[in-house]
Amino acid sequence: MLTRDAPAKINLALHVTGRRPDGYHLLESLVVFTELGDRVSAGAAEDDSFALEGPEAGTLAAEDSQGNLVVRARDALRKAAQRSGHAAPPVAITLDKRLPVASGIGGGSADAAATLTLLSDLWGYHPSAQELAEIGLSLGADVPMCLAGTPLVARGIGEALEPVEFGFALDMVLVNPRIGVSTPTVFKALARRDNAPLPPVEGLEDRARFLGWLETVRNDLEAPARQIAPAIGDCLSALSDTGALLARMSGSGASCFGIHADADAAAEAARRLRQAYPGWFVAATRTRSAPGRQVRQAS
Ligand code: C5P
Repeated sequence: MLTRDAPAKINLALHVTGRRPDGYHLLESLVVFTELGDRVSAGAAEDDSFALEGPEAGTLAAEDSQGNLVVRARDALRKAAQRSGHAAPPVAITLDKRLPVASGIGGGSADAAATLTLLSDLWGYHPSAQELAEIGLSLGADVPMCLAGTPLVARGIGEALEPVEFGFALDMVLVNPRIGVSTPTVFKALARRDNAPLPPVEGLEDRARFLGWLETVRNDLEAPARQIAPAIGDCLSALSDTGALLARMSGSGASCFGIHADADAAAEAARRLRQAYPGWFVAATRTRSAPGRQVRQAS
C-alpha cells in the first residue's frame, strides 16, 4: 500500500490577462502549497475499487464516483501505460478527504496529481515529467501545478510553470463558508479579461518585502465570485478582524486565506473563527517548500 499527500493549492495572486479561442482564460498566478491536504492511498487488488473517507468525504460521496478526478486520473494513466505496452493491474484506492470540495484550493486537482504519481510508482510505469503533466492537463488546468507541488508562477491557462523559491514559510488560516462556487460561472462573470500581467515577484528572500509586494497584486476572480457568493466578503472581513496581515480569495473561491504574523497568531485566529462561525471550514496551516510526501506502508 502506498500513501501520498495531496496538498492544498493557494493562489496568492491571480491576474486574468486574456482568453483563448476555446474559452479558457489566460492567467498569471503565484501559487503555493500548504501542509494541509487530502491523502490518497493505493494498493494492488483483484478488482479496481475507490473508497472515500475523512471529514470532507460527505459532499463527494453523493457524487457519481466515476466522475471523481481520482478515478479519472487512474483511467487516464492506465490508458497511457497500456498504450506503451505496460501492465496497469487493478488497484484499490482510498481518498482521505480533508479539503472542502470545489472551493478554489485545488482539492480535486491535488487528488488527481497524487493519484498519477502514486499509480506511476505502484505500476512501475514512469512517463517523463512532460508526459505526466500532459496527462494531468487533460484532467484539469490545475493538475500540472499540483504535480509540481512547489511554489511557482503559473501562466497560460495554468500549465506553463516557473518555479520560485521562498526563503520563508507563510502561516495561514483557510476559511470556506461552505458555499460551492462553480468555476466556469465565476470566469463568465468577469467584468474584464485584459488585466495587467503579474509584476515580477519581489521579496522572496524577505517576508516583509514580499508582503508589501503581495499588497500590489490581486485575485481578479474575487470580485465576480463575491457577486455570486456574498459570503466570501464575510470570510474576508472575518479574516481581517482576527488579525490577518492580508486576506484574499484563492482560485475561483469560495475559500479565502489570511496570512498571519506567525503560527501562534494563525492558531489563535482559527480558534476564534471556529467559535464565531461554527458552520464554516476553518484550518490553520503553513506553506510548504517540498512536494507531497509518499510513504510506503505495510499492506
Ligand atoms: O480545467 P478545469 O476543469 O479545472 O476548469 C474548469 C472550468 O473553469 C473550465 O471549463 C473553464 O470554464 C474554466 N477555466 C477557465 N480558464 C482557466 C481554467 C479554468 O476559463 N484557465
